[in-house]
Amino acid sequence: MRPLIIGVAGGSGSGKTTVARRIVEALPPAGVNILEHDAYYRDRGDISYEERCGLNFDHPESLETELLVEHLAALREGAAIDVPRYDFKTHRRAPDSRRVAPTPVVIVEGILVFVEAKLRDQLDIKIYVDTDADIRAFRRIRRDIEHRGRTFDSIREQYYRTVRPMHLMFVEPSKRWADVIIPEGGDNKIGIDLVIALIRQMRGAEMAG
Ligand code: C5P
Repeated sequence: MRPLIIGVAGGSGSGKTTVARRIVEALPPAGVNILEHDAYYRDRGDISYEERCGLNFDHPESLETELLVEHLAALREGAAIDVPRYDFKTHRRAPDSRRVAPTPVVIVEGILVFVEAKLRDQLDIKIYVDTDADIRAFRRIRRDIEHRGRTFDSIREQYYRTVRPMHLMFVEPSKRWADVIIPEGGDNKIGIDLVIALIRQMRGAEMAG
């Protein structure tokens, strides 16, 4: 059976990952995989670390979306894929990859997954996680310091230079493509439960979990 592909978009720090995880937890473990658009950041080993730090990672061009689209086509055909691994500390793709087998449900998660038609058209259900900018910014500061090896000054500089303008230019307007908007992300149990019920309805007994 063709996989059901669910897109989860929303600004950086909106709670997309938590929403995706809650959906996974509610389904049988062998039935679902998460593909992060972030894993498909282009490998810019051609420039220095200092130059990489200055790149605009919030523009659609910074991602190899064409590879993600190819991977979704392969999963549809029943083939396994090798998802790249990305290192946010070095801004480079890691040498190894992650093998992902086809599953009845695939979640595709990322700030820009609704922006390009070639990816958007692959998504059977489009969920936008809508969280206020102040909450998103605090979450991002904490996450980037704790997990991505950043300083407060670098986070602030990047936020004003690229994250905020690209959010306003690409991410926020992409909300218009959503089928479902979930306010406040992972804390919205009712919104998430509705989506889980819909997946079970569309995938039937397979997803009874
Ligand atoms: O997990 P989240 O949705 O926040 O990931 C997307 C963010 O990762 C983007 O807003 C982008 O600024 C950031 N990013 C980064 N450094 C990279 C690649 C992405 O800060 N090398």
